[in-house]
Amino acid sequence: MRRPLMAGNWKMNKTISESVSFVRMLKAAVSGVKDIGIIICPTFISTNAVYGEVKDSNISVGAQNLFWEEKGAFTGEVSAAMLRDAGCSYVLIGHSERRQYFGETNEIINKKIKAALSNGIVPVLCVGESLKEREENSTFEIIENQLKESLSGFSQEDASKLVVAYEPVWAIGTGKTAAPQQAQEVHAFIRRIYSEMYNNIIADKVRIIYGGSVKPDNVSELMKQSDIDGGLVGGASLELESFVKLITYSRS
Ligand code: PGA
Repeated sequence: MRRPLMAGNWKMNKTISESVSFVRMLKAAVSGVKDIGIIICPTFISTNAVYGEVKDSNISVGAQNLFWEEKGAFTGEVSAAMLRDAGCSYVLIGHSERRQYFGETNEIINKKIKAALSNGIVPVLCVGESLKEREENSTFEIIENQLKESLSGFSQEDASKLVVAYEPVWAIGTGKTAAPQQAQEVHAFIRRIYSEMYNNIIADKVRIIYGGSVKPDNVSELMKQSDIDGGLVGGASLELESFVKLITYSRS
């Protein structure tokens, strides 16, 4: 059985004090939740303060990015060891906004995954096609390529530690969610590629979460799909009420 995950990606939103007061309220609201992993990914500068607030709770902290070198003259960058020290146990890698605005390639993403794994942080590898790619019927080819290049050189053991997030770029922040069956089709495909690259046991174990306009009114249908193991949520994770609803979807 794969334990579901609900991760809030706050992107470039919330100050340190806003982040801390949000998680304080979140902690109280979800203290009884045991059957789903809860992750908050604030900005770098808020990670440690958020960790201080949630460290003894059922909420984990994730970062939105990292740099692959250990330390040195890389102005403006943050290493995996620094994130670990700040309390991060997850890190988003290769989010489409990073690919699109900051030129991240699969090769760069590969190095970032390696850095996360060697510091004991779970990488959440984001993959997904653009609208143009979907319209050209190249979705599966794009996803396969992203997976194979990003995971090149990793052992079965490494691969089993990852979380994969399928985020169709056309569904992010647009209000357009992939239809549950449409998302399921790609999730099943990702699992199949995983089993080709590694084996069935690892493919069966890996958590594949969906991102792209996940909202309280579509979460249940998405989560009913057999290969969807959770959500990576932008907009709806910024409001306490909607994020709590997403976490408690199965009971609402
Ligand atoms: P959204 O963002 O939920 O606002 O569409 C998802 C994401 O980019 O992770």
